[in-house]
Amino acid sequence: MTFNEFPISDDLRNLPDEYQTNFCKEHSLLLGYVTSAPFYEDFRAGLLSLLSALEPKIQQLLMMIREYLSISTRIHNQIILLDQIYKEFIALETYQFQLLASNFNQNVLKQKLKSNTETEASSTTLGPEMFRTRIIGFGASATGRLAARRSFASSPRLGSAALPKSSGGILKKTLKTIGYGSLAFTLASIGYVSFKVWRESYPEEQQKQAPTFPDGRKKKTLVILGSGWGSISLLKKLDTTLYNVVIVSPRNYFLFTPLLPSCPTGTVEVRSIIEPVRAITRRCPGEVIYLEAEATDIDPVNNRLTIKQLTTVHSGHSGKDSGSAKPSLSEDIITSLDYDYLVVGVGAQPSTFGLPGVAEHSTFLKEVSDSMKIRRRLMDVLEAANILPKDDPERKRLCHIVVCGGGPTGVEVAGELQDYIDQDLKAWMPEIASELKITLVEAMPNVLSMFNKKLVDYTSQVMKDTNINLLCSHVVQKVNDKTVYAVSKADSKDVTELPYGMLIWATGNAKRPIIGNLSSKIEEQNNAKKGLLVDDRLLVDGTDNIWALGDCTFTKYAPTAQVAFQQGIFLAEHFHRLHDVEDLKYKISNSSPDERVDRLKKKLVRSQNNLPPFEYNHQGSLAYIGSERAVADLVWGDWSNVSSGGTFTFLLWRSAYIYMCLSVKNQILVCFDWIKVGWFGRDISKE
Ligand SMILES: Cc1cc2nc3c(=O)[nH]c(=O)nc-3n(C[C@H](O)[C@H](O)[C@H](O)COP(=O)(O)OP(=O)(O)OC[C@H]3O[C@@H](n4cnc5c(N)ncnc54)[C@H](O)[C@@H]3O)c2cc1C
Ligand SMILES: NC(=O)c1ccc[n+]([C@@H]2O[C@H](COP(=O)([O-])OP(=O)(O)OC[C@H]3O[C@@H](n4cnc5c(N)ncnc54)[C@H](O)[C@@H]3O)[C@@H](O)[C@H]2O)c1
Repeated sequence: MTFNEFPISDDLRNLPDEYQTNFCKEHSLLLGYVTSAPFYEDFRAGLLSLLSALEPKIQQLLMMIREYLSISTRIHNQIILLDQIYKEFIALETYQFQLLASNFNQNVLKQKLKSNTETEASSTTLGPEMFRTRIIGFGASATGRLAARRSFASSPRLGSAALPKSSGGILKKTLKTIGYGSLAFTLASIGYVSFKVWRESYPEEQQKQAPTFPDGRKKKTLVILGSGWGSISLLKKLDTTLYNVVIVSPRNYFLFTPLLPSCPTGTVEVRSIIEPVRAITRRCPGEVIYLEAEATDIDPVNNRLTIKQLTTVHSGHSGKDSGSAKPSLSEDIITSLDYDYLVVGVGAQPSTFGLPGVAEHSTFLKEVSDSMKIRRRLMDVLEAANILPKDDPERKRLCHIVVCGGGPTGVEVAGELQDYIDQDLKAWMPEIASELKITLVEAMPNVLSMFNKKLVDYTSQVMKDTNINLLCSHVVQKVNDKTVYAVSKADSKDVTELPYGMLIWATGNAKRPIIGNLSSKIEEQNNAKKGLLVDDRLLVDGTDNIWALGDCTFTKYAPTAQVAFQQGIFLAEHFHRLHDVEDLKYKISNSSPDERVDRLKKKLVRSQNNLPPFEYNHQGSLAYIGSERAVADLVWGDWSNVSSGGTFTFLLWRSAYIYMCLSVKNQILVCFDWIKVGWFGRDISKE
């Protein structure tokens, strides 16, 4: 067939020759319908007129096909264009073309496109009319770069021709995008976490300590006492190249206390929530010296500390202050340490209020060793009770756990213990588990009194539902090795006797001896009954080079990790500013001429006045209450306060604590612990 035989307009006939040839080839695709229907003259005539009517549309379509064939070999672009062509077919709104569209098997086309092979034209029987359609294919592009023939798969029967659904394509595309997005996100997260782990494991080189700065100014010695929330937060934020930093603490690791109540039952392993102090100091920009010792005396006049290491091994120590010529195997190492600046962050110790029997018979929950002690004691009482006959009152006593103190520590540990009974012991020691009973004794009318009323009620309800016996408005006044005596606040003659197998004491904080030692030497600290008194920049009242933070201070803030952490950050900034002040002072004393000195003096005054006070930003409180529920009093700025409790809050509680963990290593280990417990349950072995 020649070009002139095509039923098309003059416009098309005026196309350049090469286009005409190509158009001719391409049109043969459509004329396949016409020429191969010799017995249906009427239909043929109708189709010819239809073709001329549709000519502009067809032309546009053929242009697109041409473009498709000449487009870059990027599969992505080709697919986009194929999609458009497909839609154009549909838009022709003519049955034959819709049929064509239905045959426009994109997958086949894509495959063909990839392999760039020629495909034979196929013959198909079309419906009852029985006219054979020979589809020849699209011709070469105008540039002649591609000459692939496209063929179409067999056509469906006329009456049941199912058109491809475009919504399927969109869904597929969306799923693909989501898939690729998720993959990219996962890879990016793995990369980020790996980088952070690598950074933590291989810290950069540190600047060594030196007696002076390069300009000759003396480098001050900053001694930090403690390795808890306050001290470690200070250390992490401090530019340790500005001072010779020494950290002194009897605990050579940081302990993430919020997850400590999960340790006795094994929900979280102890090693997952501790971070060695040396790993932390090694990541500081300037060298930090760590001494595992406890400060036993602070001399604020001579800026000197006495420190003691409680060692059970041969010390070999030649410290001046030990006073012993021949160190024995269990000798304490006592020595002294001078400071220019001192930060006291020694925390607090559990309070017993001097109540008889408490110190001897209770287990506390403050340190890792306490959590291990609780674990051992719990397993002991379980196994001992298991041996005794069922009706033995001793068995009943051993199966009774008393927790004294309905603050967050008491509530969290009671909740964790009850989870252990319900979720694990019931499976492995059903008889003992069914006899185990937990009683929480609280002096106030409610537990968790720092939370809002709604959450307090919710907590009480959850505890009752999970079988924890709440004994509120009762003050424990005396303890012996087998019984706790709790006096009712309403009637002091009403004494409840609670025989117990294990007693956990969680009634809050008391100050450490070293705090008493320091405050006794400073007149301004005479009223410091509960902790050191500090000003709004955390400077200890009555001193000019001792700061204190966290639980060892007595301020308007609650003794929480959140407060200590923010105070640590504040002090780091404060020491950076103090360094600038010292720097200016040094420059003034070593400068001339006078105008320069005057300028520096003005700057110094400005810097000294520019030491901001500590401002606490309360972000809310969270507490675990057992049976996979938690309560939260959350605060956003000054305007929003949200209280929530339940399973969702429990997930929030977990996420918040994962986020707060000190290192990526801790974050990963804690997550693994939770997954492990989810899969295998908690361990019930004794050690
Ligand atoms: C079980 C439990 C759960 C808690 N959960 C939360 C919670 O979820 N959210 C919250 O905000 N708060 C929580 N807290 C409170 C929080 O742990 C404390 O407020 C926080 O630890 C106080 O930080 P700190 O730096 O003052 O003291 P600590 O973190 O107690 O650190 C004190 C450091 O000083 C060292 N030290 C002691 N004596 C000496 C000495 N003589 N010389 C040198 N160093 C010494 C100690 O070894 C320790 O390293 C919890 C507390 C406990 C016990
Ligand atoms: N999830 C958390 O946010 C969380 C968890 C643990 C601890 N902390 C913080 O750590 C600090 C200490 O917490 P805590 O729970 O150990 O102590 P706490 O001071 O918060 O609570 C101690 C409770 O023991 C009660 N009590 C005291 N003496 C008693 C007696 N003789 N008999 C009966 N009850 C008595 C008190 O009324 C009080 O409710 C608090 O500031 C607390 O906010 C926070």
